[in-house]
Amino acid sequence: TEQRTPLIAGNWKMNFDHLQAIAFVQKLSWSLKDARHDYTDVEVAVFPPFTDLRSVQTLLSADKISLSLGAQDVSPHASGAYTGDVSADMLAKLDVGYVLVGHSERRQGHGEDDATVGAKALAAHRAGMVPMICVGETAEDLEEHGAAAIPVAQLTAALAELPEDAEFVIAYEPVWAIGSGQAATPEQAQEVAKAIRDALRELRGDERADATRVLYGGSVASQNVAGFLRQPDVDGALVGGASLKVDEFSRIIQFKK
Ligand code: G3P
Repeated sequence: TEQRTPLIAGNWKMNFDHLQAIAFVQKLSWSLKDARHDYTDVEVAVFPPFTDLRSVQTLLSADKISLSLGAQDVSPHASGAYTGDVSADMLAKLDVGYVLVGHSERRQGHGEDDATVGAKALAAHRAGMVPMICVGETAEDLEEHGAAAIPVAQLTAALAELPEDAEFVIAYEPVWAIGSGQAATPEQAQEVAKAIRDALRELRGDERADATRVLYGGSVASQNVAGFLRQPDVDGALVGGASLKVDEFSRIIQFKK
């Protein structure tokens, strides 16, 4: 963990219009300033809906707020006749640094398969952004295959599309823990995070495996975040519901105190 800066990421999903978004980011930055949050210790990222990105970017740059910006999705295509898609270049132009790919809500609700997830990761990488590759097993998968098999298979498939030297982040989100209030235990998260890192060692070698951050996501809250971050292979959290409340998200970011 020592060589990996912890990353606390807030996935807003389909919440907040652009006015609510800038009000939220402003309050969050005040809260972290009050708490004298040290950004060299913990990186913080927010993933607003597409329609909010421009407003949030403007605020971050005008007020010199040290938050990373992420997008929740990206087109696998570079440009052209893809009605409704948003390209990686468009996002990169807004100082977007991270792009979520393979979130279970896209895999399940929008039929995204491993090939699409890999193509989106590649599109993000080509535009100079870091894909945050989401993997995780359903309750049925867990029963049938154990915890690690599906996440590792999903990761392997996505990485097959990415060049060897591409940087990425992995978010392990057990589907049964998302929005359920029933988080994995720190030990369960560690077990899968370790399996993911072992797979990375095989696929990309020691250096990349040691440098890559593996986050846990699924009902993370201020009361349980420290337990996850104490695990040697868990390097951060991808937070959904609890990232929509300023005070709660601020407490999660300050998990060390
Ligand atoms: O991407 C984060 C997410 O899926 C977890 O959601 O609400 O369980 O924290 P939540």
